[in-house]
Amino acid sequence: MAREVRDSQVVMPIRDGGAHCEGALGRWHVDEQGRGVFPGRTQTAGTGRPRGQTVVSGADDATAAELAALLRALEQGRNGKNGFPGGSDFDYAPLAPFFAHELNNVSDADLSSTVEHHTKAMEREVVGFFADLFRAPEGDRWGYVTTGATEGNIYGLYAGRVLYPDGLVYLSEAAHSSVHRALDLLGMDWVSIRVSRSGELNYEDLRRMMDSRRSRPAIVVANVGTAATGAVDDVRQVKRVLRELAVTNHYVHSDAALAGIPSALLDDRPGFDLADGADSISVSGQEFVGTPFPCGAVVLRRSLRDRVRRLDTADTPEAAISGTRNGHAALLLWYALRRLGVAGLRQRAEQARDLADYLARRLNEMGWPAWHHPQAFTVMFKTPPAELTNRWRLVATDGWSRVVCLPGVTREQLDHLLADLRETIKPRIPAQRTPLRPRVPATAA
Ligand SMILES: Cc1ncc(COP(=O)(O)O)c(C=O)c1O
Repeated sequence: MAREVRDSQVVMPIRDGGAHCEGALGRWHVDEQGRGVFPGRTQTAGTGRPRGQTVVSGADDATAAELAALLRALEQGRNGKNGFPGGSDFDYAPLAPFFAHELNNVSDADLSSTVEHHTKAMEREVVGFFADLFRAPEGDRWGYVTTGATEGNIYGLYAGRVLYPDGLVYLSEAAHSSVHRALDLLGMDWVSIRVSRSGELNYEDLRRMMDSRRSRPAIVVANVGTAATGAVDDVRQVKRVLRELAVTNHYVHSDAALAGIPSALLDDRPGFDLADGADSISVSGQEFVGTPFPCGAVVLRRSLRDRVRRLDTADTPEAAISGTRNGHAALLLWYALRRLGVAGLRQRAEQARDLADYLARRLNEMGWPAWHHPQAFTVMFKTPPAELTNRWRLVATDGWSRVVCLPGVTREQLDHLLADLRETIKPRIPAQRTPLRPRVPATAA
């Protein structure tokens, strides 16, 4: 029995045993089982369901209306994501049919599974891709797809703690809040290290702090793209300090959530990966790659993972932090990496950098203080009046806001923001015309 479904403007003639509706979701219908059937954006091989359609079970009127409102808000808000680091230019709609299935990469991507519904082969490819990108030694590489860079950071610090239970963690002032969370969870002692005005680790301060604590093994967290300014620490400098102070028991983890992928694709790449001396690297999926939900990956040497496993007193069957793991995350990452490839990722990174350049230049031309690291997508600028920060959802920290020009942000959007800013601030352009480089504390992205 077909039934009427109310959205903003609904109700079409009943056909195919279902009600055809039109609203914010586009054209859709309710089938005989009372399920709302929404047309997919692309034609894909299906799952036994009509091609290119996604099915929301039990979409009663109220649920359908809520979904419609949410979708409308998301679509309207798409252009207002500038302050938050998440790529949004990639279409994952062809993978919609896979969301009709549970995909569970239980345990380790290398271990065979007792269940069939997993994407471990794809996960291995994703790990291989990142292992290449972050120069893990051929034949001695391991990793897995995580719930996000936070889990990768937890894994890195956990590995450091297993290897060096009395290790002291050295952490930059600009470290992400997820690193502090990890330290808290793992009950590790830490020392805060100053950053330069641009947000990079101050290696002299690291040396000073480490020098007086040399009796303890050192676990250093390097930022590869701070959340605040996009600054990248140099693991080679960290290794130099460790060498000069003869701290042989050490572990270095790179938190490369935001900038790991684009940094690895630069001709003049900064020193942050396994070949530069990092022991583990955590990267996020939703930031530069732009997966539609948070995920990430962690990569390290397999031999190191094996040492960690041998020493780990918890002695769990899983080498990963979680037991059952998200197979869709591996699938989406795999799809994006395969579709884009190194060339596609590099092109996106270059476009994003050009856009950051453009925004900083235009702001400075307007007399509004702005700057960005040459390799970073994060443009820092003096916080505009609240009406504008609210409209554009701009985060403000210590008088500075940022736009992260990740793939998906367009020049038109930035022009619109610039025009809006010009209008709003016309009478109050600050006298200071020289770009400032403030010390901006880290914030949760
Ligand atoms: C530098 C940095 N590290 C860690 C994280 C945490 O990543 P996730 O949110 O993927 O867990 C972020 C997120 O923005 C980040 O920017």
